[in-house]
Amino acid sequence: MKDISEGIRARLGLENPFDTYVHDPSRIDRQGWNSRHGFFEVAIEAAAPRLIIELGVWKGMSSIHMAEIVKARGLGAEILAVDTWLGSSNHLAKPGRREELHPVDGYPSVYRTFLANVVDAGHQDVIVPLPMDGNSAAYALNKLGVKAGVIHIDASHEYASCLADLRNYWPLLADDGILIADDYGSWPGVSRAVCEFAAEVDRPLFGSMSKALLPKSPTLGFDLKVTRKRSYRRGDK
Ligand SMILES: C[S@@+](CC[C@H](N)C(=O)[O-])C[C@H]1O[C@@H](n2cnc3c(N)ncnc32)[C@H](O)[C@@H]1O
Repeated sequence: MKDISEGIRARLGLENPFDTYVHDPSRIDRQGWNSRHGFFEVAIEAAAPRLIIELGVWKGMSSIHMAEIVKARGLGAEILAVDTWLGSSNHLAKPGRREELHPVDGYPSVYRTFLANVVDAGHQDVIVPLPMDGNSAAYALNKLGVKAGVIHIDASHEYASCLADLRNYWPLLADDGILIADDYGSWPGVSRAVCEFAAEVDRPLFGSMSKALLPKSPTLGFDLKVTRKRSYRRGDK
């Protein structure tokens, strides 16, 4: 398999975890949230990215979906998958959620599930994990002059930290790139942050249940149509 991810991995000086990873099929677990939303296809088709950044990866299902799309379209794009793999505030605030992190010796091991899912799906050639907090990663990527054609933001769902993520990652988006914000419309703090940010950067916002598109170009827009009624458990992550 040709390793086209050498590009961003080499540029960032990252080790390749798949060189040493011993596949453990018992860790495969394809659980995710909105991971196959139609906006991924729309954004990737419109931006034809060479690099995609995903902030908030969890078990890898949205990264894997984007890998499928870029391969089906022959785009040769890489997906830089940024996550601490330590979970979210709900894994402490909501009783019973801690075990979702599969702690080993008291430390979360979701990263093992992510690796198993990526290898099982056969996308280790295009998905490049960056285990780091989103803020530090954005700072370093900005400093290194990295630009991405599509950025998917799906990390913290609190207003202030979501707004900070949008502000941190917007400069990483190419001039013709498209930002996808997860949980727009389903988490009040996220919806507020995304709306405020769109106004702050003076860009139109295209929303659906649980995702929004924010193009970097002020002249790029999308026609949306309502396709179906959908019920949704609000603030469920
Ligand atoms: C909702 S999950 C991502 C779901 C995934 N995109 C999918 O479709 O299945 C949110 C992820 O964001 C990560 N996360 C939360 N805060 C973060 C931060 N400050 N930096 C990096 N990752 C963070 C968590 O570890 C978690 O894996």
